[in-house]
Amino acid sequence: MEVEFKMFLLCLMTLLKLAISANFSELFQPNWAPDHIVSEGDILKLKLDNISGCGFASRSKYIFGRVDVQIKLVEGDSAGTVTAFYMSSEGPNHDELDFEFLGNVSGEPYLVQTNIYVNGTGYREQRHTLWFDPTTDFHSYSLLWSHGCIMFLIDRVPIRIFANKEEDGIPYPKTQAMGIYISVWNADDWVTQGGRVKTNWSHAPFVSAFQSFEVDACEISQESDEILPKSDGVARKCSKGVEHWWDKPAMNSLNMHLSHQLKWVRAKHLVYDYCKDTLRFNEMPRECSG
Ligand SMILES: *[C@@H]1O[C@H](CO)[C@@H](O)[C@H](O)[C@H]1NC(C)=O
Ligand SMILES: *[C@@H]1O[C@H](CO)[C@@H](O)[C@H](O)[C@H]1NC(C)=O
Ligand SMILES: *[C@@H]1O[C@H](CO)[C@@H](O)[C@H](O)[C@H]1NC(C)=O
Ligand SMILES: *[C@@H]1O[C@H](CO)[C@@H](O)[C@H](O)[C@H]1NC(C)=O
Repeated sequence: MEVEFKMFLLCLMTLLKLAISANFSELFQPNWAPDHIVSEGDILKLKLDNISGCGFASRSKYIFGRVDVQIKLVEGDSAGTVTAFYMSSEGPNHDELDFEFLGNVSGEPYLVQTNIYVNGTGYREQRHTLWFDPTTDFHSYSLLWSHGCIMFLIDRVPIRIFANKEEDGIPYPKTQAMGIYISVWNADDWVTQGGRVKTNWSHAPFVSAFQSFEVDACEISQESDEILPKSDGVARKCSKGVEHWWDKPAMNSLNMHLSHQLKWVRAKHLVYDYCKDTLRFNEMPRECSG
């Protein structure tokens, strides 16, 4: 309980910090079907059609920090489509933090699926409904990753916290730098109503729009391998002895507002939690107890 409380305080720090706005093309580059990506002023549109989806990736990799992006999801019939915003390292033992927006037929709600992979293993899905229509306006989606916890936020409202409980033997991502990825793709074999509803290509192209990219994270130089030792020294090295704001000690007072928000989201909008899925696992993941 004590540990969780501290982690939570630590996480609250993030909401006091204004992230740094950045120039999109300095941070990102297309990594899939650039011809399906259109920029209109500050807005970037990703199109999915019967030929291809598309996506882009950060030029750098990061270890700890915060990433925000504003998204307006595919309007109308989005069944079968997935819009994804995630961070991931490379290789079979990769770490990954996911936001996946699962499309639906017109008038039916999107689901937001979040997942966390550590050392190649995921199976940590949660699914939420939203308290607004994500297709009519831009809303902000944030990933926060510190030594203490991982936090998923929507419009600054925390929807999920994964606390670092390494001392209880629960794996936590902290040694592998991650890139930032955004993509739109077809997944009609599973995404909408369990895969029963297929993508209706006569409604293509399916377009999600993105703006206001903000990255305030510890950037890793791609050239140097020695910056990623398999030790706790990573972040210290990366920050050159400076303690980053996301790892500062807890604040003096608990922000009850945010704590209530998280409780409210869990009560009203959490529709699936792997930790409650006793049919799925022979043995429940360790982080699910307590
Ligand atoms: C973003 O950076 C690119 C490359 O440095 C530059 O060409 C472009 O003008 C910049 N855009 C804005 C809006 O600052
Ligand atoms: C893809 O969609 C276009 C436009 O609707 C259509 O003309 C074309 O035949 C389709 N191609 C395939 C392979 O389905
Ligand atoms: C990651 O997984 C591999 C097996 O896939 C295992 O050998 C290794 O010890 C794991 N690393 C950690 C830090 O748990
Ligand atoms: C789509 O709408 C149906 C009916 O409201 C709902 O059961 C389902 O959870 C929604 N989302 C997805 C991704 O299927």
